[in-house]
Amino acid sequence: MTSSSRAVLAPLYEQVRNATLALVAPLAPEDCVVQTMPDVSPTKWHLAHTSWFFERFVLESALARSYRPFDSRYEFLFNSYYNAIGPQYPRHQRGHVSRPTLREVVEYRRHVDRSMRQLLEEAPADLVESHAFAIELGLNHEEQHQELILTDIKHVLCTNPLRPAYAATPAVAGTETALEWLPFDGGLIELGKDGAGFSFDNERPRHKVHLENFEIASRLVTAGEYLAFIRDGGYRRPELWLSDGWSACQREQWFAPLYWVSTGDDFTMLTLSGARPLALFEPVCHVSYYEADAFARWAGARLLTEAEWERAAASAPVTGNFVESGFLHPMPSARVAGAAPAAAQLFGDVWEWTASPYLPYPGYQPFDGAFGEYNGKFMCNQLVLRGGSCATPGRHISASYRNFFPPDARWQFSGIRLARSPHRAPGAPA
Ligand SMILES: [Fe+2]
Repeated sequence: MTSSSRAVLAPLYEQVRNATLALVAPLAPEDCVVQTMPDVSPTKWHLAHTSWFFERFVLESALARSYRPFDSRYEFLFNSYYNAIGPQYPRHQRGHVSRPTLREVVEYRRHVDRSMRQLLEEAPADLVESHAFAIELGLNHEEQHQELILTDIKHVLCTNPLRPAYAATPAVAGTETALEWLPFDGGLIELGKDGAGFSFDNERPRHKVHLENFEIASRLVTAGEYLAFIRDGGYRRPELWLSDGWSACQREQWFAPLYWVSTGDDFTMLTLSGARPLALFEPVCHVSYYEADAFARWAGARLLTEAEWERAAASAPVTGNFVESGFLHPMPSARVAGAAPAAAQLFGDVWEWTASPYLPYPGYQPFDGAFGEYNGKFMCNQLVLRGGSCATPGRHISASYRNFFPPDARWQFSGIRLARSPHRAPGAPA
């Protein structure tokens, strides 16, 4: 950040914090306290934890003795995973905590917001400047939790047999869009965040990667295509699955994507707008890496690597069906067959599983201090996903952004794009 940090950060702080409250507005207090599985955090926890981040990493440092913590016990309750800060309340038991109440957590947010405004509007410029990175990180962190608020509450509401809707959003049936294969030249490419501006540490440094020629699908895999995989015995054919994936499939008794409900010969789909008939032309969603990989094998293709994805997306506009569109669900591709060779749906709709393990780039340097725990310590046993989803704030995404989840995770808006390697006869020139 520069000397204009105050001018940039003050309005951005208001925008991001208000966007969080707007997401929570449709919910009843009772919705906000439920934890339906260990990966799901109650909405109340998200509201408190994102405030704790500013309190702990900005206010307690910047305002020092003049800052009065709202409740010193919150450091244990709402620290997520920062061992450098101290012990944490167990993640899988966050739904066990009925106090503080939702009302008290909202008051906690107001307390933090008042102090942040004091800092951003009245503190000396050099004090704001020295905390600009922590504030910007806190805002990007809050945007990540905005997406988690939606994915977690979707799990909460879809677990409820009454099938409550989060919001009434329009369903768009769309029309069938032919899948085309778009070729990309291989060679030495550069990968990772370039230049100035905020990025997470896991996006840097920019570095060189060699790629072979490859082709990617012009759009995402649709629900209709995935239904064909199911009807061809996709969930009953171990030869299509990775060993770990087949074990997960058997153990969890998967038979379709998460939120697909069997109705005999057909399926309905649970969405943030309640139950809907299966929409065949919209992207399939809520599949694990294992399912994405098995589908790709069934389809005679493969998943992209993250380097291939970034090569394809680097020159594409960062536009798409993000949370601001209000659909809160992936949309059918609007790409016209035969149009200019550009891939559709690279950004928004669903996170695209890649075949790349989540690893540090060559020369990776974690953020300093406790922020070093933000990304680096999770670089094991997870796969990279790219492109953002219909629950991601559009401002948050770029071509270099790396999301990551374990291969059996299904509750995020995660989907599939296919790739393939052009066939080259043995001995043919490269
Ligand atoms: Fe967090």
